[in-house]
Amino acid sequence: MIINEDAYMSLGKEKTTLKITLKLGDCLKVMNEISSESINLIFADPPYNVSGKKHISVKSGKRVVLDKGPWDKFSIDEYTRFSYEWLKACKRVLSDYGTMWISGTLHSYPTIGFLLKRLDFWIINDVIWYKPNAPPLLSANRFVPSTELIWVASKNKGYFFNYKLAKKMNEGKQMRNLWKIPATRHKTKHPTEKPEPLLKRIILIGSRQGDTVLDPFMGSGTTGVMAKRLSRSFIGIEKNEEYFKIAKQRIKKTKVLENEITLGLVKWV
Ligand SMILES: C[S@@+](CC[C@H](N)C(=O)[O-])C[C@H]1O[C@@H](n2cnc3c(N)ncnc32)[C@H](O)[C@@H]1O
Repeated sequence: MIINEDAYMSLGKEKTTLKITLKLGDCLKVMNEISSESINLIFADPPYNVSGKKHISVKSGKRVVLDKGPWDKFSIDEYTRFSYEWLKACKRVLSDYGTMWISGTLHSYPTIGFLLKRLDFWIINDVIWYKPNAPPLLSANRFVPSTELIWVASKNKGYFFNYKLAKKMNEGKQMRNLWKIPATRHKTKHPTEKPEPLLKRIILIGSRQGDTVLDPFMGSGTTGVMAKRLSRSFIGIEKNEEYFKIAKQRIKKTKVLENEITLGLVKWV
């Protein structure tokens, strides 16, 4: 059963005042402060565990060891344990009608997919985010990585999913799970900032105005910016102080586009 906008209204949910809560700290600890089943939508962009000697990247035309930061370095066992813990914490706080969206690449999504099943989540979709402008490969030995996978999961089969709106955003045709959204120039110095159009789409389809969105790995605050702009309450958690300050500033500066959030006026991406 999919709960659309009309049915969701009849569940008796009242619109609340917009509330933005930003927490500096480890999401495993901070999530203990969040009430059970209080979150409508979770977007998680966790460490992908791609940093370290095994992974080569290109910087200014030169081959370099990929290093996103200490937060992205785990042994496979540590990574599995950590992922299990934060997914379990997310399950507790997610509403029965809520959805959780988790981005990843081939380095992380097998682990996350396995754990979603292990934790008895209902897997709704795997969205393939295709980046047509992904940078070229220096090593001529494989295909150019140009996708990320976004798991979409819920606690059961009755979840809020704005199917009609997704169709409208896709010029009246059913929206497919292949999303072509270019990577955008970063607005901050965070190494893995997500494009705002990606979050806009997720938030519009996975929640409605007044709902509460949680991002346990807030980074530069992209989810918070789009949540606030689209009139959703937001809880963001980030353990790195420098990134936390960047996110706070960015979200503070963001204006709520209340008048734009009518079906006809939103510019779809
Ligand atoms: C992939 S980045 C998220 C980027 C974000 N989506 C954006 O658009 O800027 C992951 C972030 O999670 C933070 N992080 C890693 N482990 C964490 C933890 N246990 N608790 C809270 N934040 C964590 C890192 O410092 C990093 O900024």
